[in-house]
Amino acid sequence: MKGAAGGGSRGQELVDRLYRTGELSRDQFTELIAGRRTETEAYARELARRVRERVYGNCIYIRGLIEFTNYCKNDCYYCGIRKSNRKAQRYRLTREEILDCCEEGYALGFRTFVLQGGEDGYFTGERMKEIIEAVKKRYPDCALTLSVGEKDEDTYRMYREAGADRYLLRHETAEECHYRRLHPPELSLKNRKNCLKTLKKLGFQTGAGFMVGSPGQTPETLAEDFMFLKELQPEMVGIGPFIAHQDTPFGNEPSGTVKDTLFYLALVRLMLPEVLLPATTALGTAHPQGRELGILSGANVVMPNLSPAAVRKKYMLYDGKICTGDETAEHLADLAGRIEKTGCRIVTDRGDHKKRSFQKI
Ligand code: 5AD
Repeated sequence: MKGAAGGGSRGQELVDRLYRTGELSRDQFTELIAGRRTETEAYARELARRVRERVYGNCIYIRGLIEFTNYCKNDCYYCGIRKSNRKAQRYRLTREEILDCCEEGYALGFRTFVLQGGEDGYFTGERMKEIIEAVKKRYPDCALTLSVGEKDEDTYRMYREAGADRYLLRHETAEECHYRRLHPPELSLKNRKNCLKTLKKLGFQTGAGFMVGSPGQTPETLAEDFMFLKELQPEMVGIGPFIAHQDTPFGNEPSGTVKDTLFYLALVRLMLPEVLLPATTALGTAHPQGRELGILSGANVVMPNLSPAAVRKKYMLYDGKICTGDETAEHLADLAGRIEKTGCRIVTDRGDHKKRSFQKI
């Protein structure tokens, strides 16, 4: 590879700088994103793969995703389970059903469970606390990740004290105007950022992230995303292509591309070498080998679906979301086989963030 030795393009020079120093200025990110050529993308992805290997070897961590409610009080313009979508068939799982998912997942080798849902008022702080305690009591050797949206500090603290270890809350975009383009007026970027800061403060391994190719995204808004991620220093970053859902205001908008997604995954790996970076379901939906391509671009996590088969089709964030093939937990062996072809292997452990120790509070 050319690059660090000189002689490369301006794009390679910027990628090298990101790799060497872990940062770029806002203008440099914009320049890199706006002006890159295919060779620059290939260069960044190869470098990102090597950084992943240096930090995590050939280990890919698995998380069992339990989509436990698709009720949501929010009305995000991109999302299929937004409250105005009358066509969505709403469901919520009981605590016993959630525990059954964990049981099945544990037997398959999962040591992290991710409870993801819409912002559903039924699941009060108290109810979540009971669920978190029940899961942690039964599976003390497992990590528990929550992904249930914006709450106040006391509620987040309650989750943490009940035993939750990690929290996923994508920031979606770090640029004000773009945030407003994607969300109704009740939601604000300021509050979203505050939530993320609070989660970090409470000692959660915290995940932020964004969709690629969402309506209104530009090199400038993306540069803002990278600047924000650098400042926040999240332990996890979720990035997947935007994919239109027909029953949303963005139903006719073009989807984000796999190519762009792979490039931004690589840039995140170069900027935050130890980050836990999933090859997302959206990437797997956009391309039959999306997960493998993600891994070859620096991703080191996959999150197969552990939700009961009967509800999977109802958790439709976007059209065509894959939910019956290799990405399901019961087809883990098939997924493992595919991952082995990339030179990696699935490991059965909690898969905590490498460089930080997280204590129970
Ligand atoms: N396309 C891709 N990703 C989406 N999400 C929500 N709607 C879509 C869509 N139409 C993502 C958001 C959210 C995560 C749970 O799913 O980024 O944070």
